[in-house]
Amino acid sequence: MFAGIAGRYDLANRVLSGGVDRSWRRKVMAAAGAPGHGSTVVDVACGTGDLSLLFSKAGAQVVGVDFTYEMVALAPSKDSGRGGEMAWLQGDGLDLPLGDSVADAATIAFGLRNVADRRRCIREMARVVRPGGRVLVLEFSMPRQDAFGRVYRAYLEHVLPRIGGALSGDRAAYDYLDDTVQGWPAPDQLQAEMEEDGLVDCRYERLWRGIACIHRGSVPSLDGVNEVRG
Ligand SMILES: C[S@@+](CC[C@H](N)C(=O)[O-])C[C@H]1O[C@@H](n2cnc3c(N)ncnc32)[C@H](O)[C@@H]1O
Repeated sequence: MFAGIAGRYDLANRVLSGGVDRSWRRKVMAAAGAPGHGSTVVDVACGTGDLSLLFSKAGAQVVGVDFTYEMVALAPSKDSGRGGEMAWLQGDGLDLPLGDSVADAATIAFGLRNVADRRRCIREMARVVRPGGRVLVLEFSMPRQDAFGRVYRAYLEHVLPRIGGALSGDRAAYDYLDDTVQGWPAPDQLQAEMEEDGLVDCRYERLWRGIACIHRGSVPSLDGVNEVRG
């Protein structure tokens, strides 16, 4: 599916979110502790590289991994080359082609919903992060069932598939987006899963009245003393 829409993915993102996705990605950077020069970030399901490139612009060394060649192949041409070193890999987030504890942070933006086994993906992300480093997830979620929530639900079901379909040429891809967002676990449940999978200091921030959420957790430090900061 992503191979088919790769060429129009960025345009559809900008239009459907009104550009807000950019500010959400910047918040992920902040939640990761704003890694810069000397830091290494692994961006899983990096797609066309928007989040990876933000980290690279801040000076971090970044590995972007995605298993859809057509998506990740668009990323290098968006790299100005003025940031930290970038490596783009075609690979599976469920079996990352990287060693243990190689990164200061691992991120996944709008990707966890798409992998076949989200728990395994989180464990893989934690495996490649050093003790004390962070795992960050940016994902859509469903707002509460108030007036705003009802309007948003109608947008997801009726408006978004039409606009997304017209922009990308694949309406089914945006029906899929609606189905997967509505079936996605509530933030508390996702946080509980991250904790069960060994992450500590887990927390989340709802964005835009809950239509998206940033989850964060830390890989336990070896001395048992875990950093807690905002
Ligand atoms: C909605 S896009 C998100 C892309 C990018 N992170 C962004 O924020 O725009 C989801 C991406 O997940 C990738 N993906 C799905 N399953 C994957 C897996 N098991 N391993 C790596 N990438 C995967 C798809 O190829 C697709 O590029």
